[in-house]
Amino acid sequence: MPEAVERSAPGKIILCGEHSVVYGRPAIAVPVSDLRTHARIEPDAQPGLRIVARDLRQTIIVRDAPPLDALAQAARLVLERLGAAEPDAVLTVQSDLPIAAGMGSGAAVTVALARALSAYLGAELPADELSALTYEVEKIHHGTPSGIDNTVIAWEAPIYFVKEQPPETFTIGEPFDMLIANSGIASSTLAVVSNVRQQWLAHPEFYNILFDCVGAIATAARAAIEQGARQALGTLLNENHELLVRMGVSIPQLNALVQSACQAGALGAKLTGSGQGGNVIALVKPDRRAAVTAALQDAGAVKIWHTRIGGPRD
Ligand code: PMV
Repeated sequence: MPEAVERSAPGKIILCGEHSVVYGRPAIAVPVSDLRTHARIEPDAQPGLRIVARDLRQTIIVRDAPPLDALAQAARLVLERLGAAEPDAVLTVQSDLPIAAGMGSGAAVTVALARALSAYLGAELPADELSALTYEVEKIHHGTPSGIDNTVIAWEAPIYFVKEQPPETFTIGEPFDMLIANSGIASSTLAVVSNVRQQWLAHPEFYNILFDCVGAIATAARAAIEQGARQALGTLLNENHELLVRMGVSIPQLNALVQSACQAGALGAKLTGSGQGGNVIALVKPDRRAAVTAALQDAGAVKIWHTRIGGPRD
């Protein structure tokens, strides 16, 4: 009988380019290595595969689950890919990541589950296969996702992403510190993406210009990160936020978080993910981290995480 196996997958933040990435413009995203989803699989006396989703307080019997159950579908795709029979096992998933907050919790669950199940069956799936499999499951949550979430989480590396093109990884010139502040407002990516589509259809010229500007910011932000130019990156994050406001995907609570972070000395801040709720990110120098954290708390953040992109935490 196989031994128990544990695997995990990181969360992610989009640094620049959400929404415009759906329309073919570039975006950049980085994994958040210290906020992860964990999956553990072990032999079970009951026949078949059971998935226990701790955070959702759900237990799923894979063979009885409907086709649109994302967890069961992830397991089925792994079994199909490996040509393997369902093992008699229990697979438990548990996440550090907030749900519906723009940190890729759905994609992280699929990647962690797929890594654990395939390893239990004696195979390790490469990043491109994990990403493709996760994209199929993401469609259940999001309709027609651009593919950025599954890519950055499966590759677990900084990604310069253009839809339907092979992802490019890039290097971080100097590690930088980000604060991630949760507004406590859940938002539906599907609903926000569909609102943007309606606005784009109603005002195509205006929205195409917004998307072009955001795409140019994403490309410039990649160069700034590669060169370790933090000040320039901060300015680009601020500009990206202003364009997201014009796109209609921000809300006053997110704007208040962005403004308070900048007033407390952040180099730049913006909403991240689909908007209408979820998270704000702020780029901070280490000596401003405490002040910006306090300002974000005062402005209503319900939870704040610190992560160092490209280097070890202090
Ligand atoms: O809210 P999230 O983290 O799932 O991010 C969605 C990013 C969008 O660009 C708004 C949609 C997409 O499919 O890329």
